[in-house]
Amino acid sequence: RKEKMAIIIERYKDKVLALPRKEIDTNIYLCKYQGFWYHHGFWLHSNANFSVEAIMASQDEFQALPTDVFLASQVKSGTTWLKSLGFAILNRTKFKIDKDSCATHPLITTSPHDCVPFLESESFLHNPSYANGLMATHIPYTSLPQSIISSDCRIVYIHRNPKDVLISFWHFMNTLREDGSSPTKLDDMFELFRKGLNPYGPFWDHAIGYYKASLERPNKVLFLTYEKLKQDTYNEVKRLANFLGSSFTKEEEDDGLVQEIIELCSFKKLSEAHKGNKDGSHSSNGIYFRKGIVGDSVNYLTTEMIKTFDEITKEKFDGLNISF
Ligand code: A3P
Repeated sequence: RKEKMAIIIERYKDKVLALPRKEIDTNIYLCKYQGFWYHHGFWLHSNANFSVEAIMASQDEFQALPTDVFLASQVKSGTTWLKSLGFAILNRTKFKIDKDSCATHPLITTSPHDCVPFLESESFLHNPSYANGLMATHIPYTSLPQSIISSDCRIVYIHRNPKDVLISFWHFMNTLREDGSSPTKLDDMFELFRKGLNPYGPFWDHAIGYYKASLERPNKVLFLTYEKLKQDTYNEVKRLANFLGSSFTKEEEDDGLVQEIIELCSFKKLSEAHKGNKDGSHSSNGIYFRKGIVGDSVNYLTTEMIKTFDEITKEKFDGLNISF
């Protein structure tokens, strides 16, 4: 896979060199492609690659099947949680869920990220059966490989309050630093994020693309929010299952299956299962669990920062009914 990635990076070298670039940290650049900012070259860590070349290649090569399901999100918006719920729901016959099986379920024995690979960093580098039809993506709606739209695949998007995303992202990026360099200051991260200069940013435009698609194609695109999922988990999980064409039967509900799935996929259960794995490598899935709460950003952002973010959100989402 690494070799294939190296070939891809070489193939798109000239195209990438022609893109607008911005240095966001010493020797770290983002480039702008189809209205969004991306890393380029090898980025993140050895097993996962979220660079623009991978997106270009998946646009050129990836062939979706009509039965494929895509779980889409911005970074740090609840990807791990959505992957867990989607996988548990769709595979509940194959991997039974009850109190005893929690310890043997793949979400626990491997991890949500192993169960649901990313289209742009993993799936398209393998044969199509690799992901069993369930994949995740951070690619903006307007840049998705054309076959995902033309095949009429189902897409679920999870959105999250941008202030909490910023704080989650800031912690995550500082955890990922393996080179001993000094952590990024929140002020600096805030400035970049508000200008849209974060991977797959502008954050707001990313959400708007999927939100509009969910209005235009409600049977094919479902728009969820992290906050609503926290607040009304039971009904949101049922809504997710219905959308995926995998509604719970009355019997399953009476047997408490919805609650079992919620518990299996809960922050508590998954973070406990994967704690200790926090050294920043891909197999260290502990880095995907921090606090898992709503509103933690108030503990970090100044009143001025909150005001700025709220104003951007109000302006960007004007006329849209995006609430969180
Ligand atoms: P915090 O940093 O605010 O705690 P992503 O999965 O998109 O990378 O997002 C990570 C964020 O989701 C982190 O937020 C993480 O703690 C939270 N998270 C991960 N798994 C979760 C779960 N099962 N339930 C709720 N939140 C979860």
